[in-house]
Formats: sequence, C-alpha cells, structure tokens
Amino acid sequence: MPRDRESDVIVKLDGVTIGYDENKPLATIPSLLIKKGEILAIAGPSGIGKSTLLKTIAGLVSPLQGAVQVCGEILPKRPFRGDLGYIPQRLGLIRHASVMHNVLIGSRASMCGPMQFFTPKEAKESAKNAICQMGLEQKMWDPVKRLSGGQQRRVATARTLAQAPKVILADEFLSELDDETMSHVAETVVRYARENNAAVILVEHDVSRARELADRLVVMDDGRLNPFISSTKTLEVKI
Ligand SMILES: Nc1ncnc2c1ncn2[C@@H]1O[C@H](COP(=O)(O)OP(=O)(O)O)[C@@H](O)[C@H]1O
Ligand SMILES: [Mg+2]
Repeated sequence: MPRDRESDVIVKLDGVTIGYDENKPLATIPSLLIKKGEILAIAGPSGIGKSTLLKTIAGLVSPLQGAVQVCGEILPKRPFRGDLGYIPQRLGLIRHASVMHNVLIGSRASMCGPMQFFTPKEAKESAKNAICQMGLEQKMWDPVKRLSGGQQRRVATARTLAQAPKVILADEFLSELDDETMSHVAETVVRYARENNAAVILVEHDVSRARELADRLVVMDDGRLNPFISSTKTLEVKI
C-alpha cells in the first residue's frame, strides 16, 4: 500500500499520552494518522479513556505527553474555528434555548475568522438543513429541554453538521436512538464525510456497529490503543 501523502493526513497523534494526572496516565498512543475522508472508530470498555482521547484531539484536555496535530495546527494552537466539529458525550446544549438556536451556534462557528465562510443568511440556511437532515424540523423552535434524550443527541449532531467541519469527533453520538433513527443519523454523518472529504473519529461502545460504520477500527484496551483489523475492509493501521 502506498505511503500516506502528508497532505492527506488531517489528524496526527505522535507519542501521545492522555490523562488528567501525570502519575496516572490513561493511555498511550504511539502513532495514529487519520486521513481526509476517513472514518475511524474507537471502541473499548467504559472508563478506559475514549472520551478523554476525543477531548484531547478537540484540544479541551492537554496531552500529558506528545504532539496532537489537527488541520495542520499543533496543539495548543487550535484549528481554524469551524473546521473541527465535536459532538460531546454530554451534549453541551443550552437546554432552555430552541433547537434552532443551539444549531445556529454551530453554523456561526463558520462565520468567524478571516474567511467569513457563511453569511448570516447562509448560517441560518445551514442550520435549517442540518435540523431537517436530523429529522427535527417539527421541533425546530422547541426548547431543547422538552426533547427526548435521543432527540437532544440529534440536535448536537445537527449543530456539528451545520458548521461544515473538516473533522468530526463524535462521542457515542448514536446512543439513545431507536434502530431506524440510528441508521438514518449514521448514514447522514457518513454521507457528509464522503461528500465533503471530512474525517470522522467516532467513539462507539458497540464493536459490531463501529465495525459497520468505520473504515478502520481501533480498540482501546489496558491503557493502549490496539489496532483491530476489520475483516470486511482493507485497512492500514499505523500504531
Ligand atoms: N475531568 C476529569 N478529571 C479527572 N479524571 C477524569 C476526568 N474525566 C474523566 N476522568 C476519568 O478518566 C477515566 C476515563 O474516562 P473517559 O475518558 O470518560 O472514559 P470512557 O469514555 O472510555 O468511558 C475515568 O476513570 C474517569 O473517571
Ligand atoms: Mg465516554
């Protein structure tokens, strides 16, 4: 298999140790490269550090050691606002505000900075599209606190899609969804990634679902990130 072209790599972890306390590191990732358009799933038991890994890539938790590079910027320098979309496990929604308001926050992220990617009208349009893609058009003006757990999770997904990110970090974004909704939400995010050459790193506790969704699956186990090669897809894992 040809070597990855450096320009195709959008997330790069090099000798990264994650955790909150230097004396109690959670996991070490010797090397992990994620290419544009690639969907990578991270699985592993509860409490192993999957969310911490995503937060580290998102720049919300500093690595204990090593370098994290996202969209060409090495932390603590952050990527251009809007380029990195994060769907947290604890959704971080404004509960009393409407679905539209919450999702607009995502599309406004892409209005910031020198590019002025969206005009205010486009931001609203982008938010509306994302809400409709998540099947929440009937709930657009409802306060988030009146929505079910699964609907709130879809609001957080819409908020990220509305910002048109180059990298999506999705932490258990399919939890609390019924089978039909789950397939629809998963397909929408995968289609977004394919059409926009965006990378997705998703945390999924269900290994068979992770394997179905992703091009590549890594399993966190005993504080290390171990490659797990899916039998259905040809994968290159560099660990
Ligand atoms: N802010 C924090 N400060 C200290 N420890 C934390 C913090 N957040 C999570 N932890 C601990 O880090 C470990 C890994 O947590 P987490 O990354 O949420 O695991 P997972 O997502 O795999 O279930 C757990 O033992 C958890 O209690
Ligand atoms: Mg977690």
